[in-house]
Amino acid sequence: MSEPTEDAWQRVDRYFADTLVGHDPALQAAVAAQHAAGLPAIEVAPVNGKLLHLLARMSGARRVLEIGTLGAYSTIWLARSLPADGRVVTIEAEPHNAAVARANLDRAGVGERVDIIVGRAAEVLPTLAGQDPFDLVFIDADKESNTIYLDWAARLGRPGTVVVVDNVGRGGRVADADTTEPQVLGTRAGLQMLADDPRFDATAIQTLDAKGWDGVAIALVV
Ligand code: DHB
Ligand code: MG
Repeated sequence: MSEPTEDAWQRVDRYFADTLVGHDPALQAAVAAQHAAGLPAIEVAPVNGKLLHLLARMSGARRVLEIGTLGAYSTIWLARSLPADGRVVTIEAEPHNAAVARANLDRAGVGERVDIIVGRAAEVLPTLAGQDPFDLVFIDADKESNTIYLDWAARLGRPGTVVVVDNVGRGGRVADADTTEPQVLGTRAGLQMLADDPRFDATAIQTLDAKGWDGVAIALVV
């Protein structure tokens, strides 16, 4: 049991998820509806959804920005972390995804706490300037644009804002310095920005869960 064979790590992930996350009808219904609507099964793993939820609670977040809604699986986790007057603003480029997300959020009972903005995030984000700052930003959209999204996370946040970037491991391909894969290039550019841009302090951890081998970056706006 000392090597992380696929069998072994899947067993550990199921054990963690069964023990600490549990099975939630609204979240399971959201995944089922997303699947039935033909959306890809690329929502975060249950243990990762709960990580987002806990990070939001640990940081006392009241205003959360999500870039990339998909079917709102992570959005439900985030919305549930907020006080009654809290707000999630989530941006989704595909109107079909946004419709699935809206139904899932309403079914989960958190719909009134969530604004879905349909549009390309790079165009939507500038329109959010001038509001109260966001306390947590979750970046989970087209990886090619991660540096744009990080820039807006810093601009729309404040010192103390928590920024989480999904999918930074990409099955290990992130460590390939010679890659030409646009999504990996975007991911690497985002990680380099987290290292170089004085507005951030960050780390990244690999994840091995229901979604395979990937990773999350966690940053603080300083
Ligand atoms: C992809 C995107 C995601 O956000 C994710 O969690 C997994 C995969 C993708 O585009 O392949
Ligand atoms: Mg993702």
